[in-house]
Amino acid sequence: MVRYFGIAVAVVFSITFFGKGIAMAASAEANYKFYCSQCHGLEGKGDGPNATKSQPVSPRDHTNAAEMKKLTDQDIVNVIKSGGSATSKSTLMPPWGKTLTEQEINGLKDYLRKLCKC
Ligand code: HEC
Repeated sequence: MVRYFGIAVAVVFSITFFGKGIAMAASAEANYKFYCSQCHGLEGKGDGPNATKSQPVSPRDHTNAAEMKKLTDQDIVNVIKSGGSATSKSTLMPPWGKTLTEQEINGLKDYLRKLCKC
C-alpha cells in the first residue's frame, strides 16, 4: 500500500513539474500572439493589422537584430512592463505591467531574443 502511494506521488509530481515546463514554454508565444501581434505582427516583423502608415512611429520589428541588439534584457523588460516611455520611445507601445505577471514578461523577453536571434 505504502509503495503504491509512493509511486502515485511520483507520478503526480512529474506531471505537475514537467507539465508546467511545457505550458510555460508555449505561453510566451501564445501571449505574444494574443497581446503583441496586432501591432508587431504574428512573426514579430512590426507589420500587424494595427500598424498603419499614418502612425508617427511603426511598431518595432522584433526580428531586426541590429535594432534589438541595442536593447539590454532589462530595457526589454522595462519597456514591456511600463510601455514606450520607459525607453524614451513612443507611448504607442502600451504598458503591460498590470496585465502580465513578472514571469510572463520575462518569458516574452526570452521569446523576443529568439525572434531576433540576438
Ligand atoms: C498598440 C500597438 C502595440 C502593441 C499591442 C504592442 N506594441 Fe510594442 N511597440 C509598439 C510601437 C509603436 C513601438 C515603437 C516605439 C518607438 O519606436 O518609439 C513598440 C516597441 C516595442 C519594443 C521596442 C522598444 C524600444 O525601445 O525599441 C518592444 C521590446 C516591444 N514593443 C514589445 C512589445 C511586446 C512584448 C508586446 C506585447 C506584450 C507589445 N510590444 C505590444 C506598439 C505596440
